[in-house]
Amino acid sequence: MIKQLNMNNVGPAPALQLEFGERLNLLTGDNGLGKSFLLDIIWWSLTKKWPAEVNPRLPAGLMAKPHETGKASIEFTFTAKSKPISYISTFDRKAQAWAGKAGRPSNPGLILYAQVDGSFAVWDPARNYWRRKGNSDVQERPSAYVFNAREVWDGLRDDQRGLLCNGLIADWSGWQKENGAAFKRLCAVLEKLSPSSGEKIIPGELVRISLDDPRDIPTLKMPYGQSVPVLHASAGMRRILALAYLLVWTWEEHVKASRLLDEETTSQAVFLIDEIEAHLHPKWQRRIIRPLLDVVHSLTEHAKVQLVASTHSPLVMASVEPIFDHDKDAWFDFDLFGGDNGGIPGVSLSRRPLIRRGDASSWLTSEAFDLSSARSAEAEEVLGKAAVALSDTSFDAAQAKQLDQELRNVLGDTDPFWMRWRFVAEKRGWL
Ligand SMILES: Nc1ncnc2c1ncn2[C@@H]1O[C@H](COP(=O)(O)OP(=O)(O)OP(=O)(O)O)[C@@H](O)[C@H]1O
Ligand SMILES: [Mg+2]
Repeated sequence: MIKQLNMNNVGPAPALQLEFGERLNLLTGDNGLGKSFLLDIIWWSLTKKWPAEVNPRLPAGLMAKPHETGKASIEFTFTAKSKPISYISTFDRKAQAWAGKAGRPSNPGLILYAQVDGSFAVWDPARNYWRRKGNSDVQERPSAYVFNAREVWDGLRDDQRGLLCNGLIADWSGWQKENGAAFKRLCAVLEKLSPSSGEKIIPGELVRISLDDPRDIPTLKMPYGQSVPVLHASAGMRRILALAYLLVWTWEEHVKASRLLDEETTSQAVFLIDEIEAHLHPKWQRRIIRPLLDVVHSLTEHAKVQLVASTHSPLVMASVEPIFDHDKDAWFDFDLFGGDNGGIPGVSLSRRPLIRRGDASSWLTSEAFDLSSARSAEAEEVLGKAAVALSDTSFDAAQAKQLDQELRNVLGDTDPFWMRWRFVAEKRGWL
C-alpha cells in the first residue's frame, strides 16, 4: 500500500508531494500533466521495475527520465505487512539509472496496473518476489508479468522461460470446460462489473469462429439475443473482460503459488488503473469504481485493497460522492499555472477536499475539469459577448437583435440564460 510519494526534478512538475488515501485515490487533470506518469512511478516504487523494461513490446511505461539539471529523486513510503517502510532513490547520471539501497526491498503485496491502451502489469509477491541465498539476491523468478494489449488475450511468453500465462482465450475456455471454481469466480466478477443490473455480462457457449483457428472461443450472451465471440466484442466490453480475466487469473495463480511456498496469501493489494472510464458508456462509467473495489475485495479475501485511478470523467467523480470517505480516500488534481503574463509556467498537484456537487455538469465546472460551463465552446463565446452586452449601457437594439440571433444559433431552447436575457432585453426595450 503506497502511503507517500515525493518527487524532485522528474516529470512535468518540478516537485510533487502526495499523501495517499488507504482505499480510493482519484487523479484528475488536463491531458499531458502527468497522471499516467504518476501511475508508472507508483508501479516502479512498489516493484522496482519499469513496465517497458520488463516487456519491451509495451508502447508506454518507460523509465522516468529526469530533468536535465538538478538532483532528481523519487522518495516513497509504503506499508509492508503492517509497518511503513521508506526509500529514496536518486538518479545516477553516469549510470543513467535510478540508484537506491541495494538488496531486496520489503514486500509491498499484490500490485496490479491497468494501462489505458489495454496493457496490464501484475506483480505477485508469491511469484515475483526474489529469494535470498546467503548474502546474495537470487532473481530467478520473472520480475513481473507485463502484458501488452494483445498478450492479455493470446498469452504471455518470455524468451528464457517460455509460456508465463495462457491468456484470456485459452484460460477462459479451459475454465469453462472444467466448470470449477475459476469459472464460477470469473462469472461472478463479470456479473459484478456489468454495465447495469438489467444488462449482465453472461458467458455463452464456446464456439469456433474460423476454419483456420483451432481455438474454442468464449462468447457473451448479448441483450439482443445473440451470442457474440469475445474476439468480436465491443471496445468497452473488451476492456472489462480483460480486467475481469486478469483479476481472476492473478488471484488464482497467487493462491496456487502461495500454497506451493507454504505461505499465507497477500494481506494487501494495490490496483492502479489509468482512465478508469476508457471506452465505457456514461451509465457504465457511473458504476465502475464501487463494483471494482468490491470485486478486488471479494477476490483477495482478507487483504486491504487500495485503488489509484486516473479519470477524465465528471460522471466518475459524481459517482464516488456517496462512498467517498475523507479518512480513507483522496482526490488529487493536476493543474497548469503561470504562462503568458502569469509568470513561468509549471504543473502543480493539489489534494482537494471532495465536496458533493450533486451531478456531472457541476463536476465539469469544478476544479477537476475547469470548464466555465457544460455548453459548447461556441455557446460559451457568444455568452461571453452577451455578458458584456448586459452590463453595457450604450448597447442598442440593433446590436441586441444581432446578438439574439447568435444566441439562438448556439443555445438550446431551455437554456437557463434565456430568462436573464429576455428580462434585460424587455426592460431596455431591445427586442
Ligand atoms: N518516462 C518519462 N520520463 C520523463 N517524463 C515523462 C515520462 N513519461 C511521461 N513523462 C512526462 O509526463 C508528461 C505527462 O504525460 P502523461 O502521459 O502522464 O500525461 P497524462 O496526464 O496521463 O495525460 P492524458 O490525460 O493525455 O493521458 C509528458 O508530457 C512528459 O513530460
Ligand atoms: Mg494519461
